[in-house]
Amino acid sequence: MKSYAVISGPSSGSLAQGIAAELRLPLIEVRSDVFPDGETRVRLVGKAEASDCILVQSMYPPVDRHLFQGLLLARKLSLDGYAVHGVIPYLPYARQDRAFLETDAVSAELVACLLESSGMASVTTVDIHSGLAASHFAIPLHNLTAVRVMADFFVKNRGVNKPLVISPDFGGSARAREFAEAIGAETFVFEKHRDRHTGEIVVEEKVVPASGRNVVIVDDMISTGGTVVKAAELLAKSGARRIFAICTHPLLVGNALEKIMNAGVSEVIGTNSIPSSVSAVDLAPLIAEHLRKSLSSA
Ligand code: R5P
Repeated sequence: MKSYAVISGPSSGSLAQGIAAELRLPLIEVRSDVFPDGETRVRLVGKAEASDCILVQSMYPPVDRHLFQGLLLARKLSLDGYAVHGVIPYLPYARQDRAFLETDAVSAELVACLLESSGMASVTTVDIHSGLAASHFAIPLHNLTAVRVMADFFVKNRGVNKPLVISPDFGGSARAREFAEAIGAETFVFEKHRDRHTGEIVVEEKVVPASGRNVVIVDDMISTGGTVVKAAELLAKSGARRIFAICTHPLLVGNALEKIMNAGVSEVIGTNSIPSSVSAVDLAPLIAEHLRKSLSSA
């Protein structure tokens, strides 16, 4: 008979606690520190009285530190004989899912190999950046989407009626459409191009039907904020009223939030895949519901 415990990875204490509470499972804490030379150490605080461990460790910045902590924990647990189910809401390196230039290393492929070889039997993630990144996994990868949860949150808590839903690029258009459908609103898709050498973003100027309307920019992640800033500038030019930006993964690197607010955005909303000042949408019920179904049918 299988039994489960939730392991609270160092990056995701509060989310792990939420998932354990939803599933009424014991929670095992982890202590982590760094040796003077920069090496990472992790230690489980106690022993899981279970056959399977749900290891919750989102791998947001510092990405390599969080990735390595997750690998060490998965390895330890699998060598101790547990079946390890990784919950990695923010799966890093997924944007480097192919060689954009002939000389590029494909980081997404290596991350998939590392997670598998660390002993994870499966990985559950949320809004992985691309299908190609997912295709590098040989172990089962469960990709949940937070779009409905974010749409529900927006409708219930912001009271903005039928805003225009914006996808900042073509790649995100299905996500924006799903968000719009959930709140009964219209979608508008920008065309964005990124220079592969300089990283510079160009968003094609189009006439946006945003005049006098509230708008919501929907994206999988906000990193430097460059994409949202470009979209917000065009929306402000088009006469938009209030501009919201909502994303699954609020990486918000450096002064991204400040740049976004300076571009005229009224509010940024994210999920707790990454803890931050904007992480208002709780993923614990979504992840717990998925685990309840997938683990009971395994
Ligand atoms: C790109 O394809 C993604 O969906 C995001 O739009 C992008 O990664 C956001 O990055 P940044 O905030 O640095 O523009």
